[in-house]
Amino acid sequence: MEFKSIIYEKAEGIAKITFNKPEKLNAADVTFLQELKAALEDAEKDENVKVVVITGSGRAFSAGMDLSMFKEGVSAYEFSKIMELGHQVTRFIETMSKPVIAAVNGYALGGGCEISLACDITIAADTASFGQPEINLAFYPSWGGTQRLTRLIGYKKAKELILLGDRISAEEAYRLGIVNAVVPADKLMEKAMEYAKKLASKSPVALKVAKRLVNSALETDLEAGLRMEVMQSALFPATEDFNEGLKAFFEKRQPSFKGK
Ligand code: COA
Repeated sequence: MEFKSIIYEKAEGIAKITFNKPEKLNAADVTFLQELKAALEDAEKDENVKVVVITGSGRAFSAGMDLSMFKEGVSAYEFSKIMELGHQVTRFIETMSKPVIAAVNGYALGGGCEISLACDITIAADTASFGQPEINLAFYPSWGGTQRLTRLIGYKKAKELILLGDRISAEEAYRLGIVNAVVPADKLMEKAMEYAKKLASKSPVALKVAKRLVNSALETDLEAGLRMEVMQSALFPATEDFNEGLKAFFEKRQPSFKGK
């Protein structure tokens, strides 16, 4: 697939997706979402890819849904299809087997904020800002924001952000738990790549299962989640990676994992 709205690069086990419509603050239209989905699916399939990093070019990570799609009006059917696509992308990020890092370089608003919420780790430039401004358009966050933000920061703060629609700084986002780390803007990619390289050195099997189990903590009751933890553990003694991890520990060397 040829990409127009994103840049997709792969090197040293890391797939990097850069939103690339800076003149529109990386606002996401259907083409943008389809390309993002295709890149993520490729990263998931490619055995050489261990980690995905998503960032934006210019002043924004993404200013959200491209509102020009609705300038001339939109049918209920078309509108709900776009929401469905936004959901497919954010859910894919959240449930794919490989870790996804958002490197938020600027505005992460509306759908842009929701994409970062779906990522496993979010690193933000100190100049970045976050927000769900949809209420100002007489709408609401509809790519998972009402659900993910509430689970992440609790319903009082989620309601404040969603009902008031104000933007918050990267520091405030960090304090709320939306962001894992805030760094000077010129160090953003360095920091994101540091995280990515660290993740790429771990066992892909363990990362996949650990990610799935943490996700399930938000989606199942405690008893079911705990059962799943025990059941998944039975797979590990048969994996090469787990045996390599133990062997490396006793041989006092760094392990080399193969994802098997
Ligand atoms: N959809 C479509 N175009 C968008 C956009 C969006 N979500 N966000 C920004 N743009 C476009 C602007 O229309 C402008 O295009 P133009 O130069 O052709 O007029 C360009 O990107 C630059 O944005 P501009 O508003 O001039 O920059 P700014 O620095 O003054 O303001 C924002 C930045 C992010 C505060 C402002 O663009 C904004 O509020 N965007 C909408 C955010 C939003 O509501 N997102 C949720 C959508 S559901």
